[in-house]
Amino acid sequence: MRLFLDTANIDEIREINRWGVLSGVTTNPSLVAKEHGDPEAVWKEILAEVDGDISLETTEPDAGPMYEEGQRLAGMAPNAVVKVPMTAPGLEAGRRLAADGVRINVTLVFSPAQAILAAEIGAYCVSPFLGRLDDVGADGMGVLRDICELYAVQGYASNVLAASLRHPMHVVEAALAGAHVATMPYDVFTKLVKHPLTDVGLEKFLADWRAIEADQP
Ligand code: G3P
Repeated sequence: MRLFLDTANIDEIREINRWGVLSGVTTNPSLVAKEHGDPEAVWKEILAEVDGDISLETTEPDAGPMYEEGQRLAGMAPNAVVKVPMTAPGLEAGRRLAADGVRINVTLVFSPAQAILAAEIGAYCVSPFLGRLDDVGADGMGVLRDICELYAVQGYASNVLAASLRHPMHVVEAALAGAHVATMPYDVFTKLVKHPLTDVGLEKFLADWRAIEADQP
């Protein structure tokens, strides 16, 4: 399962990219707005920083303008992936973009039925939002499992991108469910590396090593 960051903050991206495990970045209009910069400049910096898929989201509500916007976003760099929303115009624009060879990410997906539609238009990936389903008392992980299963049964080529992940166990369970990609905020990414027993163990190893050094003549 590939690991993506869900952010538009270049400092967070640069830090995690140094670990050698970052395969891509997902952005959305809310994340880009947090950076208070020119969106094109924000995207360009991310596209140049990470050697992997970078999702850039369309904002036009109607199919025609959304298709043109998607073409423009796809033209920004070879690693650009164009996000279209799970709406009727999003399906129409997405199908045209996919037919042109543009890799599309169908976003704001909350049900297996929507995921079938995304696969049928030839989406490169489909993004179910787990955390937001949990927020309204639904079973986000159950929806992800169903989508992974139905894609496998049907032989769909689209990648399942688990999104709106809120904690490390979401990432682990998404991997067990068979998601191809997990995207998560910086906060969740940094928690993946942490375990209290690692800290305690390292502290003891280093203390013992310092004792050896102190004994040397
Ligand atoms: O970027 C899409 C998705 O991951 C949003 O997550 O945390 O705003 O529900 P969140």
